Amino acid sequence: MAGPLEETPEWQALVRHQRELAGRDLRTLFEEDPERGEQLAVEACGLHLDASKNIVSDETISLLLALAERRDLGGRTDAMLRGDRINSTENRAVLHTALRAPRGESIEVDGTNVVPDVHAVLDHMESFARRVRDGDWTGHTGSRIRNVVNIGIGGSDLGPRMAVEALRPYADPELRVRFVSNVDPSEFVDVTRGLDPAETLFVICSKTFTTLETLANARSARNWCVGALGDEAAVRRHFVAVSTNAEEVRNFGIDPEAMFEFWDWVGGRYSLESAIGLSLMLAIGPDAFRELLAGSHAMDVHFRSARPRENLPVLLGLLGIWYANFWGAETHAVLPYDQRLSQFVDYLQQLDMESNGKRVDRDGRVLSHTTGPIVWGQPGTNGQHAFFQLLHQGTRLVPCDFIGFAESSNPIGEQHELLLANCIAQSQALAFGRTAEEAEAVGVSPALVPHRTFPGNRPSNTILARRLDPYTLGTLVALYEHKVFVQGVVWGVNSFDQFGVELGKELSSRLARDLTGTADPGKDHDSSTAALIRRYRAFRSS
Ligand code: F6P
Repeated sequence: MAGPLEETPEWQALVRHQRELAGRDLRTLFEEDPERGEQLAVEACGLHLDASKNIVSDETISLLLALAERRDLGGRTDAMLRGDRINSTENRAVLHTALRAPRGESIEVDGTNVVPDVHAVLDHMESFARRVRDGDWTGHTGSRIRNVVNIGIGGSDLGPRMAVEALRPYADPELRVRFVSNVDPSEFVDVTRGLDPAETLFVICSKTFTTLETLANARSARNWCVGALGDEAAVRRHFVAVSTNAEEVRNFGIDPEAMFEFWDWVGGRYSLESAIGLSLMLAIGPDAFRELLAGSHAMDVHFRSARPRENLPVLLGLLGIWYANFWGAETHAVLPYDQRLSQFVDYLQQLDMESNGKRVDRDGRVLSHTTGPIVWGQPGTNGQHAFFQLLHQGTRLVPCDFIGFAESSNPIGEQHELLLANCIAQSQALAFGRTAEEAEAVGVSPALVPHRTFPGNRPSNTILARRLDPYTLGTLVALYEHKVFVQGVVWGVNSFDQFGVELGKELSSRLARDLTGTADPGKDHDSSTAALIRRYRAFRSS
């Protein structure tokens, strides 16, 4: 890679430009251009992005686009989409876009078109999902399957968990889909409490099939199921696996015939639309699942072909960089105004923070600019009664994404209008605030004016769509995937490895032995760790 990003003329121009813009605020920018709300809105794939409440001018966008060009965003995008091994540290292609490519397309990895394999697995998932949903695939005792328990963690959990919740109105109410991820057995116990093993199907999801949490929960599930049904052969009807590792699946005792395959070119956090989505397909059915894929594909096409200025992932990515690198924002809040998106932020946290939480560039050089922000948030209006105080009047700049839908899946009275009114009002309050004069004008006593003044000039995006359906969810998933990619390219990091999770995993396996051992922990550990181990042993033995 070329020299430090901060030394490029494009970066330096943005530094100077930020100083100029810091003297103006959103009120002024809106006063100067009465059309700003329409001018800085972009629509694609059914998503309306209102970017006007960002502290930007036309020039800002041009300068950010120039920075992206300096980092060869177009070239890197082409490289990803055509299957180059852009995950350089793991020597892998990055082709989650192939998961939603239409049947006739051709995308090659090492000279082999992977699209037919993608559709073969989709067809396999579809026939299995139809059999379960139709009652044709029964449990060991002949009972109909009424419960599906997805066992997986990280990318093998967060995507399907998020999507099953988001698309609950499209789900078969007769088939309850639940999730177990934590190695803490409480989750397994809570999720399986009251379920009839004869009616329960476990989907064991793990790309590697070596993940401690997943294998521990899968073993508990097997004991729970075989213990109740009294026959080891029950595993054949009650367990299926989703993995890239057929050997480990077999070692676990699941017939590879009952395995749904995916490939090393699908990153865990990008795997919702691979076979990892099997639980989702079981919940909403194959047709709705294919709608999800169609929505993501539409966003892929948009990302590949739209002009940068009208390109939703490019804009969202660059706006995030603007605040993270030029305004010092440490975090980014995502605020869906839809209870069905209650798991969306958890999902985005892995997508964004595991991808771009990196401190070295693709060549291993330590970076001197900041990279991925802390992503956080929760659905409105709940968040308004928890942390919005800080967003409005705190000392930190927190750029926000508001996400809302015109239609509700549960239109009761005027509640949906109230929800949307709150969504729009919050971005309005953040952007324009309330001056001391305005506070006085509405009768605020002088002593309280400083407390009841809102500084405003707090930036946000608003993404509005008609309704939260499978297609729209697909567009949102791909929108954020590509946003993360854009940012990774500009920051110069490899967004597709995750070595940062390894050290803790390694240490924990040694610690697990030491917790139950009797040897003096002081010999092998630092004094804090040794003291904690002694304390743990003392609590356990008292
Ligand atoms: O947390 C690290 C990680 O490797 C994630 O990237 C991945 O999604 C998760 O663990 C689960 O991995 P697997 O699907 O291999 O069980």
